[in-house]
Amino acid sequence: MKVIKVKNYEEASQKAFEIFRDQVKEKPDSILGLATGSTPIRMYELLAEDHKVNGTSYKNVHTFNLDEYYGLAPTHPQSYYYFMTEHLFKFLDIDLNNVNVPKGNQDIQAECDRYNTMLAENQIDLQLLGIGSNGHIGFNEPGTPFDSVTHYIELDESTRKDNARLFFDGVLEDVPTHAVTMGIKNIMEAKRVVLIACGDNKATAIKGLVEDEPTTSLPASILSTHPDFTLIIDEGAASKLDK
Ligand code: GLP
Repeated sequence: MKVIKVKNYEEASQKAFEIFRDQVKEKPDSILGLATGSTPIRMYELLAEDHKVNGTSYKNVHTFNLDEYYGLAPTHPQSYYYFMTEHLFKFLDIDLNNVNVPKGNQDIQAECDRYNTMLAENQIDLQLLGIGSNGHIGFNEPGTPFDSVTHYIELDESTRKDNARLFFDGVLEDVPTHAVTMGIKNIMEAKRVVLIACGDNKATAIKGLVEDEPTTSLPASILSTHPDFTLIIDEGAASKLDK
């Protein structure tokens, strides 16, 4: 595991942006794994700015998003498809036919099977992750087996509260109770993984990831065994680390 410790959110976003931009420049037909949540927003702004100013092209890039809320259509303003369009895709020259976000409003088992087949045929070159305050990655909540593939999952109360604070205008009842998420095995199959964590509320999860043995009670902890894993943390997220 490579740890990059920076001062704040802006610096963390800058570092992650550089890694993703360089990936696309070096391999213009890269397959990128993308994430939602508040953490990647600034990095996505930087990618959009770089595309506009320097012309980095996404014409041949394919993307796979981690997860989607169950029951929300892609047109719903709180759906992750909508999030990706508004924060990234509409600013790039990416072909929307090359964009993949699991669909939360379909026959869920058929959708999980479809997504797993696509992932088996398209190895992700570079996967972006955020982390939940309870250590979840994607929507793989504590207790999810490490060998899980794309599946339907019930969200933890703490996750729904976290996500209501930042999205859904603070209304907990509006946050879906279930989601569809890439499994931990799918995430671990990416050639390279980058996780950004910022803020004190991520410090306990980051301490577990960096200092403890992998355990399913902290899903992100398995990443310490990935052969090419980079962790980007700011001072808040690093504040509970011993060294
Ligand atoms: C959601 C997403 C995760 C994300 C997490 C953290 O639950 N499914 O992929 O990492 O939120 O969100 P934030 O970046 O807003 O702290």
